[in-house]
Amino acid sequence: MNSKVVSVAWEGNIAVVTIDNPPVNTITAAVRDGLFAAAEELRARKDTAAAVMRCEGKTFLSGADIGEFSGPPKEEEYRRLFGLYENLPFPVVAAMHGTVMGGGLEITLACHYRIAAPGTRFAFPEVSLGIIPGAGGTQRMPRLIGVANTLDMVLSTRPVDAAKALELGFIDRIVEGDLRAGALAFARELVAAGKGPRRTAERKVDPASATDEVIARFTEQAQKQYRNRQAPYTAIEAVRAAAKLPLDKGLEYETELANRAKATVEAKGLIYAFFAERETKKIPGIGPQVRPRPVKSGAIIGSGTMGGGIAICFANAGIPVTVVDSSREALERGLSVVDKTYQSMVKRGRLAAGDKDRRMALIRGTLDYEDAAGADVIIEAVFENLDLKKKVFATLDRIAKPGAVLATNTSTLDIDAIATAVKRPRDVIGLHFFAPANVMPLLEVVRTADTAPDVIQTAMELARPLKKTPVLSRVCYGFIGNRMMEGYAREAERMVLEGATPRQVDGALENWGMAMGILAVFDMAGIEVGVSVHKSNADKYPPDPTYYQAELAIYEAGRLGQKNGKGYYRYEPGDRSRHDDPEAIELLQARALKLGIAPRQHTEQEILERCLYPLLNEGMRILEEGVAVRASDIDVVWTAGYGFPRYRGGPMFYADTIGLKKLLDGMKKYRDLFGPMHWQPAPLLEQLVREGRTIADYQGAK
Ligand code: NAI
Repeated sequence: MNSKVVSVAWEGNIAVVTIDNPPVNTITAAVRDGLFAAAEELRARKDTAAAVMRCEGKTFLSGADIGEFSGPPKEEEYRRLFGLYENLPFPVVAAMHGTVMGGGLEITLACHYRIAAPGTRFAFPEVSLGIIPGAGGTQRMPRLIGVANTLDMVLSTRPVDAAKALELGFIDRIVEGDLRAGALAFARELVAAGKGPRRTAERKVDPASATDEVIARFTEQAQKQYRNRQAPYTAIEAVRAAAKLPLDKGLEYETELANRAKATVEAKGLIYAFFAERETKKIPGIGPQVRPRPVKSGAIIGSGTMGGGIAICFANAGIPVTVVDSSREALERGLSVVDKTYQSMVKRGRLAAGDKDRRMALIRGTLDYEDAAGADVIIEAVFENLDLKKKVFATLDRIAKPGAVLATNTSTLDIDAIATAVKRPRDVIGLHFFAPANVMPLLEVVRTADTAPDVIQTAMELARPLKKTPVLSRVCYGFIGNRMMEGYAREAERMVLEGATPRQVDGALENWGMAMGILAVFDMAGIEVGVSVHKSNADKYPPDPTYYQAELAIYEAGRLGQKNGKGYYRYEPGDRSRHDDPEAIELLQARALKLGIAPRQHTEQEILERCLYPLLNEGMRILEEGVAVRASDIDVVWTAGYGFPRYRGGPMFYADTIGLKKLLDGMKKYRDLFGPMHWQPAPLLEQLVREGRTIADYQGAK
């Protein structure tokens, strides 16, 4: 038998079943069909003594085809297939390498013996997609390593390495050298020793690993780790069942639970987010024929907070980078911050000392712009000031080599205006990193009216080595992310003037799932940052005298946030925990009195609606205006850059989840209460509600 993706070779009477489904040996329908046929072939030959299951390419079976999750359930088919291998009358050895995840790991548990190359990693990532292992993992793994160890893997979703797998006992041996040869030798040993199949199904779960205390411990862990989630608890229930039920009954129960998990909004949101992140690089009108420009070196202008962080991204990617600053003092400070960042990585065991040196050696500081002349990409990250940035770009125009990409990290300035400073506007683009730039995964790539397609392509491709998730935006105030943030933050600030406490507002947002409440975010970023942005862009906001007055009141009282221990909250030195501060609450109330803002009681529901509805509404404007390419790009911006819960898919997915009619009614409700200035429904929202369509329908039709 030799299907395209699964083949059987014979070494005497030992069968070698090889799967070859590049790039990562995903278990697609073709792989399953091939494996069914291979099992038949093995069974048909009466003298088969043993079988080896292995993969070509860079990894053993990496997991199920996530694209199938939204289709009809496949658990039954998986169960039959794995049962077929488990019940073969001769030993079956799985020989693994690479990253063995989910269904890829589960099939090996139905094999009788497992060996692996050094460096192989094993994981159950399902819970991070809102689902549970559904192909026997929750039933077979506890029979091998117990309930507690299984739950550890399933809930953490983190890979364990081969050494740990051996210690836990779900692999039998680590094989150095040629894995196929090692697997054959292992199979021959089994045959010579007269060892038959060793079926996981026939083993019992160690009862000591499945006590009430163990279950309680993992339930508590799930509560801490997974706010508002169901899959972790469903997984606990499934794994626990392994200790009580025989395998066939346990598998049936697992299937039932797996299908229940798949039907949740959480699973749909997480799987949607998974695909959304892979979709962002597809840009209408820019096909694969548009080749990116090669990037072998970079330069950054400005060695401050952002410049330093971006330099780290380049160095981590192995791309040499020149950092230019106008002041020696600033440059030295900037480079020492970079050095400290690496030092702390070494201290925490995240980086080897030698790697730190190698990376630091890739970063070269200079006061001379000419040193940036040879760079393939130059990213400007000087102070947020249009005249200054234009001056910098005029210099770059003079010194940069032809074809260099000229990027700006501006958050609020008009990039079309910046591009007027150069004679090569087609090479200008926005690369909007988020602080801290070496940590935050989002990269907004901002195209001007003139940016050349291959410059866009270069930016999107550069994101990969820099380990960023790129999302394309057009130029507008705030681009995608900060533009949507405007109404969200505005309402949070307004509510603390109406008498809600900072903790009440942040608490509601965090309970709902935001990584951090917005007022706490402002304390972390520095209150003066927002004040300065709002002051210099006052002309861009509606004429509302209460607008951003909360942060101004906080700022004018000398409270800068975490950095001086007081902002919306109070902080103890060296500790980021927030404490309620009556002083802050008092000064907010005084400001409200001065502005004539009537106090109001806020339910948690109102806090959520008032923060989230403007956010979703603005997203719909951005979609309609074509600022974002697609709805799911908007979702990626907010899940990757703003702490929006992935299990809610993102703002646009969430708008569809609650229903656009509800969103529109909510916008109208608050328009009636607070007036039309901030509460005008987006035209697209009204249109879709009129037509009875969803954002997904709208996107699908485009
Ligand atoms: P920063 O104040 O920390 O650093 C700016 C650096 O630019 C300083 O080291 C300064 O000496 C240097 N500089 C000033 N004029 C220069 C010139 N003519 N040539 C070379 N270097 C010069 O500022 P930060 O926070 O790093 O911001 C930089 C840019 O990134 C701004 O446009 C800002 O809006 C944007 N941004 C900032 C974010 C943040 O959270 N801090 C987030 C995203 C974007």
